[in-house]
Amino acid sequence: MNGIERVGIVGAGFMGSGIAESCARAGLKVVLEEPEARQLERSRARIEESLQKAAARGKLGGDDAATVLRRIAWSDDLESLAGADIVIEAIVEDAQIKGKLFARLDELLPDALFLASNTSSIPIAEIASWTRRPDRVLGVHFFSPVPVMSLTEVVVGYDTRPDVVSLAEDFSRHLGKHPVITKDRSGFIVNFLLVPYLMSAIRMFQDGFASREDIDEAMKRGCGHPMGPLTLADFIGLDVLYAIGESLCEEFKSAEYAPPPVLKRMVVSGAHGRKSGRGFYDYAPARDAVTA
Ligand code: CAA
Repeated sequence: MNGIERVGIVGAGFMGSGIAESCARAGLKVVLEEPEARQLERSRARIEESLQKAAARGKLGGDDAATVLRRIAWSDDLESLAGADIVIEAIVEDAQIKGKLFARLDELLPDALFLASNTSSIPIAEIASWTRRPDRVLGVHFFSPVPVMSLTEVVVGYDTRPDVVSLAEDFSRHLGKHPVITKDRSGFIVNFLLVPYLMSAIRMFQDGFASREDIDEAMKRGCGHPMGPLTLADFIGLDVLYAIGESLCEEFKSAEYAPPPVLKRMVVSGAHGRKSGRGFYDYAPARDAVTA
């Protein structure tokens, strides 16, 4: 596909694993790097399970699950990404950690067509500034669960070259995703609109305006949303949502993005939503968590 055959992915959490699965399902070879052995094992199990589900629903086209799985190599060594045509980073939302990673990727992959971040809130310009070639750095933001959601936001950094943007759009289409183009502003399109809605729902719950079940049922039945806002917040991860809210708040200096006090109390208490077993609702220990 336009010179892209081998994709390097950094971070084997819920997002990185989903991106790897989507690439492999589109016929691309994938190296999925993650330093933690336990996370690598969970990633393999998660992808196997998702592929079986997809096969049972007839979503794998002509391939079987084993063929798709063979396209993915799991590694704990960043050097194994050498030779990748493009890289997508899906690690923790920390500007310094991402920056240092991009500096290493820049050295390791001088010929990569682009280095993309799946960040939902950190400025692409800031990540790109750690590299010698910021013109090939951009954002490709996926949505969870990645194998199911058909959108990518292609985020154009301050220095990103137009041909790099076009290539990322083609790559997204090759995965069966619809790309939308957005400027490098905190939240991009989706979170800029979604986060004030989720924060309002949390405030409503916090103030005792309505029960959590009624808030969720109201938006499901009244607006046809697949999940109510509090269930969706738990699904995204309350720590992730908190970080996105803080980032939007800092960028736009507007209270509509501010995490309500109850959200902070939940996050510091370890109630991070579905992945931690508790959030606005209680969950059985779950594997299908958003971790990055
Ligand atoms: N592989 C491929 N397809 C799969 C699949 C898999 N592993 N698992 C399920 N599917 C398909 C199913 O076949 C089905 O497709 P059809 O409608 O064509 O039959 C569809 O996905 C729905 O599957 P289910 O019926 O099993 O599941 P559901 O109806 O309970 O829906 C859900 C689950 C897709 C998660 C749905 O609840 C949903 O859309 N929720 C909202 C998710 C959302 O808003 N995500 C964005 C979060 S924001 C974000 O990610 C960005 C950020 O920065 C925070």
